[in-house]
Amino acid sequence: MSITETSDLWWKSAVVYCLDVETFMDWNNDGIGDLEGVANRLDYLAELGITCLWLMPFYPTPDRDDGYDITDFYAVDSRLGHLGDLVEVIRTANDRGMRVIADLVINHTSDQHPWFLSARSSRDSPFRDYYVWRDEPPKEQREPVFPDEETSNWEYDKKTKQYYQHVFYKHQPDLNVTNPVVRDEIAKILGFWIQLGMSGFRVDAVPFLLETEAVMGGDNLLPDPHAYLRSLRAFLGRRSGDGVLLGEVNLPREEQSVFFGGADGDELTMQFDFIGMQKMYLSLAREDAGPLVEALQSRPDGSPDSQWANFARNHDELTLDKLSEDERAEVFAAFGPEERMQVYGRGLVRRVPPMLAGDPRRIRMLYSLLFSLPGTPVLFYGEEIGMGEDLEQKGRMAVRTPMQWNPGRNGGFSDAAPADLVSPVVEGGFGPSHVNVQTQRRDPDSLLSFIRRLIRHYRNSPEFGWGAFEILEQPRPAVLAHTLVWGDGRLVALHNLGSEPADVPILLKDTGKSQLNDLLSGEVMSLTDDGQARIPLEGYGHRWLRVVREPDTRQY
Ligand code: NOJ
Ligand code: CA
Repeated sequence: MSITETSDLWWKSAVVYCLDVETFMDWNNDGIGDLEGVANRLDYLAELGITCLWLMPFYPTPDRDDGYDITDFYAVDSRLGHLGDLVEVIRTANDRGMRVIADLVINHTSDQHPWFLSARSSRDSPFRDYYVWRDEPPKEQREPVFPDEETSNWEYDKKTKQYYQHVFYKHQPDLNVTNPVVRDEIAKILGFWIQLGMSGFRVDAVPFLLETEAVMGGDNLLPDPHAYLRSLRAFLGRRSGDGVLLGEVNLPREEQSVFFGGADGDELTMQFDFIGMQKMYLSLAREDAGPLVEALQSRPDGSPDSQWANFARNHDELTLDKLSEDERAEVFAAFGPEERMQVYGRGLVRRVPPMLAGDPRRIRMLYSLLFSLPGTPVLFYGEEIGMGEDLEQKGRMAVRTPMQWNPGRNGGFSDAAPADLVSPVVEGGFGPSHVNVQTQRRDPDSLLSFIRRLIRHYRNSPEFGWGAFEILEQPRPAVLAHTLVWGDGRLVALHNLGSEPADVPILLKDTGKSQLNDLLSGEVMSLTDDGQARIPLEGYGHRWLRVVREPDTRQY
């Protein structure tokens, strides 16, 4: 494939950065991060090497689910700025070589959305069928997603004497996508943001949006849910040739392929690899690459244009719901043994560095691993500097603290009084005096400089996003060795999940006379003519090796 085609499919080798406007940078010093703040930090993100910015919900909201409860899909929360400010962010990001995608939350609205206010005012409201109503809740119900706060997926509405469906909180009534008027409205929402310059969407809660029947056991069905997802993708394609749908689909492997549209690749452009993420933590906890290897090898085949989005952390709980109970207990024991570190009985509320006891070797190994996995890496703001969590905050809010820009007041996030901040700044060993952008930016040995190097080499190496992936069998369970081959290019990535140093034997086919260049350390290692080498790896060590044919006039 030529450079012309690969650059069209930009998501195959993007570097995605997720941020919440509210907690990123406060430009008018009212304590709440804003779009002007983001605009003023785009050069920082460009310098880091980000190519795609994912903005968490910025819409008007009563903010009972951190903005995932929306009252107007066509506007910007006035606390963050206005549409003009958003356009400046998009335009400036584009100018710096970054695309912007928005969170698309169309499974539900806030119960304060004018549609729902009308819908619940009378059974005759023109908006009644925008939502899902029943006289009686079904006998068989799914477990609520947030079991700490909800006991049911149905809430009784006293005035109109019916129950409405809500997969998430009761203040988030589910939209009725079986209603063609709602589907039309959803298309307009997509169209609106694309017209404004967005390059696509992170699509919230995709299985819940589609699985009307399976989720609720009801009679309110989409005849062919995947035909609906296909139609959304087709619509996006018509409005924006290269717009993406990056879907939140936390399902077992066997159920994932269909969300890509299988070999046709005509549904979600990308899916987060929730299984890979969970197994990665199991592997780290056990110091055994096995679970992660199995997760990677069990990824379903699909269209070459589809892509996996790899992540170590997001804004939600670090969910371990797809592990067995014993496996989950192992990860809890290793990375979050205290009850306050856990949530919903299935996840952790911590960030990576505190989970790894601040060990720089292990933290770097984890990010090296993440960026070397086949797919597109996604960072959650603050990961690049190694921010920690605030366990004083409730549940998932622990990781949603302000970005730490400098060691000064409020970590440079805002000049407002600390009591007025949207969330307190992390205190203690991971607070701004120890962890901040300003200090790390000047230090070539900092985590920030390390992540910047990883991104530079990721972007220089199409093998990661595009390549054929293969595991190189290892005698030591702690060592993960994999290759990625794309055209003439070949990379070998080595990761030692254990604390003991290891000599890693590798055997590569058809290398001819080649050497191995370590992209990260600059070392050059020899390879025998029949493709063998033994590569030393420190405890928790990592290497990215490029196989370079001698002489290769194209290398630089
Ligand atoms: C998934 C989002 O990631 C989460 O933060 C939110 O609470 C639910 N969807 C409900 O919108
Ligand atoms: Ca502000």
